[in-house]
Amino acid sequence: MNVEFFPVTTKFIYYFKGALPFDVYLQRSEGKFTKIYNKLAEHDPEQIYRYENKDVSTLYITQEEKHLYGSFLCKLMDQYTQGSSPIDKEKMLDIIKTSLEMTYEKIVAQNDELDTNIIWASQQIKSALYLMQDDMSAAIEIFKNLSADEQLLKHSYMVSIFSVVLAKNLGFSTERNLMSIGLGALLHDVGHTRINEELFKKPQLSSKEWDEIKDHPHLGLKIVDHIKGISTDVRSIIIQHHEHYNGRGYPNRLSNNLIFPPAKIVAIADGFCSFVSKASYRETTFTPEQALTMMKDDIGHYDPAYMEVFKQVIQGKKK
Ligand SMILES: [Fe+2]
Ligand SMILES: [Fe+2]
Repeated sequence: MNVEFFPVTTKFIYYFKGALPFDVYLQRSEGKFTKIYNKLAEHDPEQIYRYENKDVSTLYITQEEKHLYGSFLCKLMDQYTQGSSPIDKEKMLDIIKTSLEMTYEKIVAQNDELDTNIIWASQQIKSALYLMQDDMSAAIEIFKNLSADEQLLKHSYMVSIFSVVLAKNLGFSTERNLMSIGLGALLHDVGHTRINEELFKKPQLSSKEWDEIKDHPHLGLKIVDHIKGISTDVRSIIIQHHEHYNGRGYPNRLSNNLIFPPAKIVAIADGFCSFVSKASYRETTFTPEQALTMMKDDIGHYDPAYMEVFKQVIQGKKK
């Protein structure tokens, strides 16, 4: 039988407390693997440490058990945020990054383990929040390290971070609120994964194509429809993030006080992140200052009071 292997980071295994949920292999030579851990057996970090000292930075699990890796990372993040694992910040960034990539890979693959993905995503947001408590740059570091081709993942993560920062500055302070804003922002464009990718690369769209794109809040809502772990707040963010303050947005043309405040927050972070990032349909990116000016000039789109606070955050007058 031909067994396929999946690489895992040696350090992640080293830092994990408790029995590992999968068998772990060492690659001896091209195509030759030796099992060094039986799953659920006692985990001896010293052994891993010795491999690390021999410059082994990658160990392997079987493809068959790859699905266990996501929840493993989740537990690892949990151990870290509970303060029971002595992982340094840099390693934590690595774990969040790897975990985010896995979650998105699964969402894009349209498999039906969304409940699990959401638990992972929540843990990622929680961990990012934990890291951001005193240092916003940590979150930006993860963003920089996300693989270059996953545009939607980068966008979603970046919107999530800016949304949480804006929310904090607007006075949202409970972990529950910040978590749902972070998660709603991470999932705001999840509906994109059900739309023909080519449409996002086109500089010009026909009105029919534009209608297809405008369906993404509904598609997103459908994706999370049967997931119990998704709160009403998160759902409202997904469906309302393209509503405008003046009632001219989509899909429901809601205006100011009918729009859920966290959705207004995500709309601002979304607009800003789109301007300052590369887009496949546009050659240039804009500086943060240019983005702020364009957003302010787009009168009626964003909540002006929120916009003012956001401007101060970006200009470094608040943090
Ligand atoms: Fe969107
Ligand atoms: Fe977006």
